[in-house]
Amino acid sequence: MKKPVIIDCDPGHDDAIALLLAFSSDKLDVRAVTTVAGNQTIEKTFNNALKVLSFAGVDVEVSKGAEKPLIRELKTAPEVHGESGLDGPELPPATIKPSKRSAVETIVDVLNKSSEKVTLIPTGALTNIAQVFISHPEVKDKIDRISLMGGSCYGGNWTPAAEFNILVDPEAANIVFNSGIPITMCGLDVTHKAQIYKDEIENIRGIGNKVAVMVAELLDFFGKFHEAVNDKFGFAGSPLHDPVAVAWVIDPTLITTKSCHVDIETWGEFTSGCTVVDYNDVEGKPKNVDVAFDIDREGFINMLYEAMKKYN
Ligand code: BDR
Ligand code: CA
Repeated sequence: MKKPVIIDCDPGHDDAIALLLAFSSDKLDVRAVTTVAGNQTIEKTFNNALKVLSFAGVDVEVSKGAEKPLIRELKTAPEVHGESGLDGPELPPATIKPSKRSAVETIVDVLNKSSEKVTLIPTGALTNIAQVFISHPEVKDKIDRISLMGGSCYGGNWTPAAEFNILVDPEAANIVFNSGIPITMCGLDVTHKAQIYKDEIENIRGIGNKVAVMVAELLDFFGKFHEAVNDKFGFAGSPLHDPVAVAWVIDPTLITTKSCHVDIETWGEFTSGCTVVDYNDVEGKPKNVDVAFDIDREGFINMLYEAMKKYN
């Protein structure tokens, strides 16, 4: 049976690829896509999700979510994703009609109507998910697990301590990480190992269908930013952050996790947005998160390659 999932995202190059990976999988039943502000403003991330999914010929409800974090001002990432949030390929206007329902309304309704528990896959700031838990705590019972991209045990990418998605809305992350729902955290520890190299981008382009070519063009743009920070991070390619959270749901055997207690720093002068991972269990607190540390990189890239072959 296919696993029911909801993807909450802020496309974003790697979000777009995460969506395409999910929709091509015969293991997943994507019941809705919701968007959040993060990589760009909410109007842009929403429009990007609609455009990418329309281009891929997908039929799904796409709902707009929070325009800003719970209490902070919005931080965006034009350095990585460009002014549109999805710079690179020229995409035609969306044909999917925007949902009239908000992200929170859609998530709550999909959960309530589902006969099985649903997996949430957030690949942006956790604002929408926290809002669902604040306004409708009863729907937590309908969630099987959250497989999210965010955080890290060892160092950040936006500050020395914080990964971008958690940094954007630490208060929302704090609510989600303390929700009692099982969490798989695909943070920088694993996503920095999930790099795609130039020859592999060419292999995807070589598939030749329009979606595969568009993905290669997204990766060309995404690669320019990562080339510029190669020396700092020791990258030889581009880390495909968000697709890792989807890949874990499709095939968890690709990814190695360790169960840990994780707290979110919401205050620290230098550490706000840090996911404080008790890797050595020094405090013996309940282990609320399965933290991903390793990935079968080639298996993951092969999954992506096979996924792109399924499009037209
Ligand atoms: C995360 O930040 C965003 O720029 C990416 O889409 C990804 O979700 C990586 O830190
Ligand atoms: Ca993202």
